[in-house]
Amino acid sequence: MLPELERWFVRTFEQALPLITDDRLREDVRGFIGQEAKHA
Ligand SMILES: [Fe+2]
Repeated sequence: MLPELERWFVRTFEQALPLITDDRLREDVRGFIGQEAKHA
């Protein structure tokens, strides 16, 4: 079940990325996306 949740994280946060105006937060989210893509 977890890999599917991780793929959902990746899809959802990729969609949210353009809405994030804070540079530091956007970098954190990019890192999270990369981490979860790797896990999945
Ligand atoms: Fe994960």
